[in-house]
Amino acid sequence: MDPLNQPVLDALDYRLRPFEAKDAELVREASTDPLIPLITTVPANGTDEEILDFIDRQHQRLVDRSGYSFAIADASSDQALGQIGLWLKNAGQGRASIGYWVGPPHRNKGIVSAALDALSRWGLGLPEIHRLELYVEPWNEGSWRAAERCGYTREGLLQSWQEVGGQRKDMYMYSRLK
Ligand SMILES: CC(C)(COP(=O)(O)OP(=O)(O)OC[C@H]1O[C@@H](n2cnc3c(N)ncnc32)[C@H](O)[C@@H]1OP(=O)(O)O)[C@@H](O)C(=O)NCCC(=O)NCCS
Repeated sequence: MDPLNQPVLDALDYRLRPFEAKDAELVREASTDPLIPLITTVPANGTDEEILDFIDRQHQRLVDRSGYSFAIADASSDQALGQIGLWLKNAGQGRASIGYWVGPPHRNKGIVSAALDALSRWGLGLPEIHRLELYVEPWNEGSWRAAERCGYTREGLLQSWQEVGGQRKDMYMYSRLK
């Protein structure tokens, strides 16, 4: 099967683009965050090699057709500020999920709100995708507020849904439909 073809998406003051080696500094910041390594494949306190491996893995997602991983970059400077991904594990049932993070210095500036809306519009434009899903811990107000700002609906609480940092966690299920 051919690799997926990753577009570049405009998102207000930001741009969603493939990761590049120059984004290592952002991944290094994320690797010292208390939460990001627990919910993503960002290595905790990663070495230079582990950080470059993370960037390589983002390109591999296209080859194994598991999804699209974008760096969220400043539209003017192209500095990477965060990550957002559209994941296709359940695309056969018409569903995709989205996950995201921004580096600790870049939070609460509207970055995820802009990126999530742009990726959601594009994702729902894919013919096979009818429903986008987000899984958010109830305490994570920044995440669920961004979801609601982007037109996602809270459908309920999934109890003991997944393990995060060695503990079972409840998750709000959010969706946005075609
Ligand atoms: C959660 C996270 C993704 C939010 O990204 P962000 O770019 O800072 O979010 P935005 O600036 O777009 O803010 C979205 C909304 O949340 C609010 N908000 C942001 N951070 C907040 C916080 N810590 N507490 C409460 N509200 C917050 C904003 O004011 C905004 O509200 P509004 O729409 O009513 O104006 C970011 O804090 C992060 O990367 N956290 C660590 C990883 C993570 O939690 N990922 C998501 C897992 S589901």
